[in-house]
Amino acid sequence: AVVVLDFGGQYAQLIARRVRDRKVYCEIKPYWTDPRELSGYMGIIFTGGPGSVYAEDAPLCRPELFSLGVPVLGICYGAQVMAQVLGGRVGPMEAPEFGKTQMAFSEKSTLFDGVPDSVVWMSHNDGITEAPQGFAPSARSAHCPMAAMEDPGRKLYAVQFHPEVAHTEHGNRMLENFLYKVCGCAGDWEMGSFAKDTIESLRETIGDKKVLCGLSGGVDSSVAAMLVHRAVGKNLTCIFVDHGLLRKGEGDLVEQVFKKEFDINLLRVNAGERFLSKLRGVTDPERKRKIIGEEFIRVFEAEAAKLGKVELLCQGTIYPDVVESGSGQAAVIKSHHNVGGLPEDVGFEGIVEPLRDLFKDEVRRVGMELGIPEKLVWRQPFPGPGLAVRIIGEITEDRVKTLQEADAIFREEVANAGLEREIGQYFAVLTGTRSVGVMGDGRSYGETVALRAVNTTDFMTADWYQMPYEVLGRASNRIVNEVPGVTRVVYDVTSKPPATIEWE
Ligand code: XMP
Repeated sequence: AVVVLDFGGQYAQLIARRVRDRKVYCEIKPYWTDPRELSGYMGIIFTGGPGSVYAEDAPLCRPELFSLGVPVLGICYGAQVMAQVLGGRVGPMEAPEFGKTQMAFSEKSTLFDGVPDSVVWMSHNDGITEAPQGFAPSARSAHCPMAAMEDPGRKLYAVQFHPEVAHTEHGNRMLENFLYKVCGCAGDWEMGSFAKDTIESLRETIGDKKVLCGLSGGVDSSVAAMLVHRAVGKNLTCIFVDHGLLRKGEGDLVEQVFKKEFDINLLRVNAGERFLSKLRGVTDPERKRKIIGEEFIRVFEAEAAKLGKVELLCQGTIYPDVVESGSGQAAVIKSHHNVGGLPEDVGFEGIVEPLRDLFKDEVRRVGMELGIPEKLVWRQPFPGPGLAVRIIGEITEDRVKTLQEADAIFREEVANAGLEREIGQYFAVLTGTRSVGVMGDGRSYGETVALRAVNTTDFMTADWYQMPYEVLGRASNRIVNEVPGVTRVVYDVTSKPPATIEWE
């Protein structure tokens, strides 16, 4: 394995991810980790970080680290740490570089083997002004004569730019050179080893304590619960609060998979009526969310209380949810609430978050490894408050049913067209607009359903999806014919921004 030494900022996870993508297992440790703990790794990567290495109390490493014989790659701030600690000089640059920068590389460097002169991503105020003894410069840009330096004899490499970001044209090649050629990693690690290793370490850390998990049917909580289940079996109990606002058939699917197929202790709470009665007459979107969030916690707590003493709470937090990152992350764990919000202060000794280092697609890969059905693993994102935020106006049992049916037809048609994995998120909305239709000989006056489909990388921005007309046509036709009370279907062609993905 390789270790990423985290000097702060937001870089550690991305670097770790790039390393794992190159099939090398990777862990993250804080910068102050004792060098003796690092001697067993095949390579060490220093991350970037905010600030200046010459500032008072700047995060640095101990010089012994460089004598372990383990190859080190310093990135940006990490490169400056290497220079500073080994006796070189770091100072402010006359012309700080930010963004895409043309770079010339030394042909002799193993790190840049096969890398032509090309564009890299720079972001720095400081630079290495004098290399430590034994180092030679290995890359330069117009304003930065020492954009990289190396001491191949000691296997120490430093780059001022960021090979881990996509804007660095040959960044992956540089990481591969470091991992395979300098560190000698085989590059044969698979996500399956993550599952195996995680299950083993969960077994050790959990011991015979009891664990509770709130299962939403979403991929994150499902995969987290499955890992814990593999580790501790019946000492895990999952509570699945079915608020009655799930998509058609989804509650049963969760129960079927977890209880029947995997024999997990699963308590399904059918709280549909309770939620509906709390929501009666409510039309304001934020009030809907609030009511559902609060009610969710109440139901969850009431069920948890029946279980007696439970020491640990398992959550499906994944990396993008981790608000707090950076050094010291191992100690400080901040929980993000996936489903309406789970209680933080109900007396758990600790929180188990086995996925907090992973990105969504990595979580899916682990899910597949664990044998979770594709339907759940590839489930598209679904808001905690469920269909409530897709029903404009008052939520009634009938309207929930209407939307579930329309949505199911839309999903079926998307699947029939083979577009399921092509589209980031797609669903039907009950718009609350009534419109006139003709059915048979009579006039009808029914609901308008909007279909929505978007593509997005991060859900912060999204493009409306250019759905083939045939798919829209078939979905529309079926919805007005098969779903009572719906007289019209429209397609939403707004991107985000200015619109949001959901209608409420
Ligand atoms: P918007 O509508 O803000 O949605 O563009 C962005 C993404 O977040 C999901 N979403 C929610 N998820 N609780 C959630 O857990 C919520 O209240 C909520 N509102 C929106 C939405 O489905 C989309 O993927």
